[in-house]
Amino acid sequence: MPHESTAVEAQALSIFTPVNLILLSLAVYIIYSRLRPAPPSNIKHDAPRVFRTFTPKTLSPYNGTESPSVYLAVEGRVFDVTAGKSFYGPGGPYSNFAGRDASRGLAKNSFDEEMLTPLDKPIDKLEDLTDEEKESLAGWASHFEGKYLLVGRLVEKGSKEAEEAKDE
Ligand SMILES: *[C@@H]1O[C@H](CO)[C@@H](O)[C@H](O)[C@H]1NC(C)=O
Repeated sequence: MPHESTAVEAQALSIFTPVNLILLSLAVYIIYSRLRPAPPSNIKHDAPRVFRTFTPKTLSPYNGTESPSVYLAVEGRVFDVTAGKSFYGPGGPYSNFAGRDASRGLAKNSFDEEMLTPLDKPIDKLEDLTDEEKESLAGWASHFEGKYLLVGRLVEKGSKEAEEAKDE
């Protein structure tokens, strides 16, 4: 009986209607996405890191040209600003700050070369800043704290801190 057998087949196949298949895939997908471990939201924060001690010279290679990382210093604290490479990396508007102490430039909201202390000169003590410039610097500092990872401190070459760090 050809008619009957087609009817039975049709019934057997009826659970595989396109709509059911879509619902099934959806259910499988939902279950899968619930059970799947969440991907790390920010790998950079999970990566083990060591808090390092830099001098102006040892910080300078972190300018994004030869090193993949871009670091800069703000008031003695070194931040990893690699995530903001389009700003601080090569060709970025703040690329002068890459691998350098950016404090004075940030205080004065100037990205000029002359805001940078030459690498062989003592670290800028920023003693001449006006209240307004100090405020600007504090604002930038909290911006970096909120957005980037603190990876170290900037100390004077030959200082006690620098010498101690060498032995670590
Ligand atoms: C960046 O660092 C590299 C490696 O130390 C150096 O050769 C290069 O001159 C630096 N670039 C700038 C713009 O300072």
